[in-house]
Amino acid sequence: MSGYLVEDTRKVTTHRLCEMKQQGKKIAMLTSYDFTMARLVDGAGIDIVLVGDSASNVMEGNTTTLPITLDEMIVYARSVVRGVKRALVVCDMPFGTYQINTTEGVRNAVRIMQETGCDCVKLEGGEEIIETVRSILAAGIPVMGHLGLTPQSINKFGTFSVRAKEEAEARKLIRDAHLLEEAGCCAIVLEKIPAKLAAQVTAELKIPLIGIGAGKDVDGQVLVVNDMLGMDLSFSPKFLRRYARLADVIHDAVGQYVTDVKNQDFPNDQEAY
Ligand code: KIV
Repeated sequence: MSGYLVEDTRKVTTHRLCEMKQQGKKIAMLTSYDFTMARLVDGAGIDIVLVGDSASNVMEGNTTTLPITLDEMIVYARSVVRGVKRALVVCDMPFGTYQINTTEGVRNAVRIMQETGCDCVKLEGGEEIIETVRSILAAGIPVMGHLGLTPQSINKFGTFSVRAKEEAEARKLIRDAHLLEEAGCCAIVLEKIPAKLAAQVTAELKIPLIGIGAGKDVDGQVLVVNDMLGMDLSFSPKFLRRYARLADVIHDAVGQYVTDVKNQDFPNDQEAY
C-alpha cells in the first residue's frame, strides 16, 4: 500500500503554500487529532494537517465545537506535531480564546505555538477579528483564516446550512477575504458556500483558498479525517466523499475478536509464550 507519491519531500511551509497556488498545484488538507492518525496521513502525502476544533465533535462527542478548551486543543496538537514530518501543522484557536480582546488572542496564540510546536493557527471570522489577526501576525505567528460557515458561530447562524447565498453576505465574505489577505494570512478555509462565490474569491486572491463544501474551483480541499474514512456512517453531507468505511471494518474486526475470545480461539499456542 502506498500513499500519494510526493515529489517535493521538503517540509511544507506557509510560503510553499503560496508557491503551490502560483504553480497551479492543488493543496490537500485533512484534520488529525492524535499521533497515530497524524503519522498515517503525513506518510500518505498530505500537505496540511489541521488540528481542528472539530475534535470537539469527533473526539469528544459534543454536538458543536464550542465546548472544547485551549488546554484540550494543546494536548491534541502536541500529539499531532510528534507524528508529522512533512506537512504544515495548523491548530484551530478554540471558541473564546481570541474573540474577547486582542491581548488575549495574542497570548493564546503564543501558548499554542510554544506548547505544541505547530506551524500556524487558524481563526474563524473576518472584519470582526481583524485587529487580533494583525496582532497575532505581528507577533510572528502565521495565521490561516476561515470564512463562510464558521461553526463557532453556529448559535448566531442557527443552522449548518450553506452560507453566503444572499448578495449581502456574499459581498461581506469577499470583503473579509481581502482583509485577511491584506493583513498577511497565509491561506483561508472557505466552508460551505456556493461554488461560484468560492471560485470568484479564489481568482481574486493571491493566497490559497482551501474549500470544504465550496466546489472544485479553489486551491485545495480539506475534510475531517474521521468523516472521509467513514468512521461515522450516519454523517453524510453532500460535500463529503467517503474513501473508506472504517466503521464497518472496525465493527467486523472487533466482532471477530469478541467471537474468538468467547470461543477460546484467541490466543492460540503460537500466540502464547
Ligand atoms: O475544525 C475543523 O475540522 C475545521 C475544518 C472543517 C476546516 O475547521
